[in-house]
Amino acid sequence: MDSNKRGQWGSNLGFLLASVGSAIGLGNLWAFPYKMGKSGGFAFLALYLVLVVLVGIVLMLGEFALGRHTGHGAGGAYAALAKKYSFVGWMAVISPFLILGFYCVLGGMVLRYCLGFLVQIFGVDGFAGQGSSFFGWLLYSPGSMLIFLAIFLAITMFIVMGGIKGGIERFSKTVMPALAVILVVIIVFVALQPGAIEGYKFMFLPNPEVLSTPGDFFEVLKTASGQMFFSLSVGMGINITFGSYLSKDRSLQRNAVIVPVADTVFALLAGMMILPACAAFGVDYAQGPGLLFASMQKVFLDGMGGMAGNVIGFLFYFLVFIAAVTSSIALLEVCTAFIVDKQLDKGQEPKRRTVTGIFGILVFLIAIPVSLDALGSGDAAIKAPFELMGLSEASAMWNDCWLDFYDMITEGLLMPIGALFMSIILGWLLPKLVKEECQASGHKFKGETYFKVCFRIVVPAVMLLVLGTQIKSFFF
Ligand code: ALA
Repeated sequence: MDSNKRGQWGSNLGFLLASVGSAIGLGNLWAFPYKMGKSGGFAFLALYLVLVVLVGIVLMLGEFALGRHTGHGAGGAYAALAKKYSFVGWMAVISPFLILGFYCVLGGMVLRYCLGFLVQIFGVDGFAGQGSSFFGWLLYSPGSMLIFLAIFLAITMFIVMGGIKGGIERFSKTVMPALAVILVVIIVFVALQPGAIEGYKFMFLPNPEVLSTPGDFFEVLKTASGQMFFSLSVGMGINITFGSYLSKDRSLQRNAVIVPVADTVFALLAGMMILPACAAFGVDYAQGPGLLFASMQKVFLDGMGGMAGNVIGFLFYFLVFIAAVTSSIALLEVCTAFIVDKQLDKGQEPKRRTVTGIFGILVFLIAIPVSLDALGSGDAAIKAPFELMGLSEASAMWNDCWLDFYDMITEGLLMPIGALFMSIILGWLLPKLVKEECQASGHKFKGETYFKVCFRIVVPAVMLLVLGTQIKSFFF
């Protein structure tokens, strides 16, 4: 396959920043704080960290190795190993596609909040006269939801159409340092607020009692595992695809450690920004997915208030917006690369722009129910899954709204099933692949025994536990 036509990273730093950028996103800033807020604070954090070390780093190395070894994105990589493994590649392409279906809706909402605070700086009301009740208003405003979804998606498509070096790499290299600076500014600001200490206690004071009953333990495990997949971008084809654009002389293993460590540090910093802010301004952190929107807006609008609230509010949502775009471009790239690889395999000229455009339209279509079901709050333009199932109220987290429904199919099923098969393929069926790829150009494969045990036993065992808990939630 012609790697010039496929594209390649300009530098290792570019690859690294794009990979870190793909990992850091709404998973860290939207999902991590609210899931920690709902799932027992420190108990969730402890399980999450264990999963990153035992499963996340291992899967990431396997995915980078698979991509670079085969020179194909997620869809084609498994087929390049053997036709019979193609179904795992399909799962790794369907997942990012479905995730985009809710990611772009959330990204659009972030953009709306960002613009709201921006105009407030100039004295114009940015929240339709609703103040801190804006979240409920926005959910029931189909026009705004769809317009901002379309804008966010168009930005994502535009960057992906630019290709690897000129689009994704250039954007990530420019915005990632800015992201770090804005984050630090807001953390310092929050830390100086009276009462913030309670948020740090919630995050870092051990509370083993939360995990003492088996039912609770498995629930937290399932939530932490889904979060690990989502936040590290493992099991969604991104690292396979990004690995396939990496030249052989780069150290795979070093990159596979830096990305999860950076993502985890960022998630912790996001928690240290949002949870203490909630504590300081009297906002309930166990309130769920609305935390990033309703609660944080309240913090800036009512808690801080005035010009400071508007400026910090704008910076905050701008930070979230940048982080979301560096992830959504990676999610869309997996879909684009799937078809571009097929075109190149057939000896055709790749049509990156057209392919990206078609996927963009498809994403818009699957995002419509997510935009219009008001997160399952009832009386919305589109019925939530539980209503379509003829139930009077949601029986579980996965059927309460379309966002959670897509989330269940991806984080709850496709990604753990894909990870299970990948670990079996790399641990048992092709045990030399990762080692050889890590040793390319004379690099050492460090911790060989650790990775071997994790690929063969730990990852499959954890995935089976997670899948079992997910399947149980359909019935009880
Ligand atoms: N890993 C990406 C995120 O955290 C998808 O948002």
